[in-house]
Amino acid sequence: TWTIGNIAEEQIERIRAQIGTDGRAICGLSGGVDSAVAAAIVQKAIGDRLTCVYVDHGLMRKGETEQIERDFVAATGTKLVVVDAEKQFLEALAGVSDPETKRKIIGREFIRTFEAAEVDIIKSSPAGSTVKFLVQGTLYPDVVESGGGTGTSNIKSHHNVGGLPDDLEFELVEPLRTLFKDEVRLVGEQLGLPPELVWRHPFPGPGLGIRIIGEVTRERLDILREADAIARAELTAAGLDRDIWQFPVVLLADVRSVGVQGDGRTYGHPVVLRPVTSEDAMTADWARVPYDVLERISTRITNEVREINRVTVDITSKPPGTIEWE
Ligand code: XMP
Repeated sequence: TWTIGNIAEEQIERIRAQIGTDGRAICGLSGGVDSAVAAAIVQKAIGDRLTCVYVDHGLMRKGETEQIERDFVAATGTKLVVVDAEKQFLEALAGVSDPETKRKIIGREFIRTFEAAEVDIIKSSPAGSTVKFLVQGTLYPDVVESGGGTGTSNIKSHHNVGGLPDDLEFELVEPLRTLFKDEVRLVGEQLGLPPELVWRHPFPGPGLGIRIIGEVTRERLDILREADAIARAELTAAGLDRDIWQFPVVLLADVRSVGVQGDGRTYGHPVVLRPVTSEDAMTADWARVPYDVLERISTRITNEVREINRVTVDITSKPPGTIEWE
């Protein structure tokens, strides 16, 4: 019979056969459920011949890096390399406000950082072994959309690094190729991953970098992280996580509005709450979050985050609005 338990077992066996008894693999963790479950399956198949890489670009939400570093590792026993690249990303983003330019910079820095980590892992792996497998969290709908077929990823030209071939070809390992998202979540639960990770809402690769309207700075990120953490905590406390597709909180960092608090006037920033419902992110509707939940979020954010003095709700569907503001 069909159970989530034997789906996981089947994939573990398949991956073990693909990688063989001495193959080594690398997996990039994004903080999301797909890469985490893919890594957990491969870890079961080949143990510490798998090395995971997590690039901390400094654009994650509050607690997410610790969740990977601590909780994911505790749950799976996976060997993990964390690259602290916050400084590098923020320097590259300094002075940039244009959304597509931000995306390009973040994407470029990400590939650079990840490739450098790959090279380090390859160079430090036991003599005579080769690391030639790259784990990816491709889901069944992605396989269908791209017309099937297995791919190879060509990590190009490490010309400046001695001792490695110019073109390093990785063979892809895709443990989730036959699964839908809800099945991935069930496998994740089965493998004992933390529930906050398993049930996490989709989160964009460029992270909070595209939820700060204006230049991205450390200070602005910290402000947004506090507001976002409050919104997430209140949504969870209200038991609404699974009814909402995504809940971006957006900081209008270049806008100021006058407010009043205690005896004085304030001149702070507004945030926008953007809770949406959706099936696949192609279209979306603004979520009718109960007023009392919105009220708690608003009260807490304006009380607890000094720089924010106004909380607004985005009631635009997609189309014409997108889910993210950038
Ligand atoms: P929009 O804002 O276009 O977003 O309605 C649709 C979905 O895609 C996510 N998104 C991104 N994901 N890199 C990503 O990995 C990006 O640059 C990016 N931009 C948007 C968004 O969060 C939503 O789930």
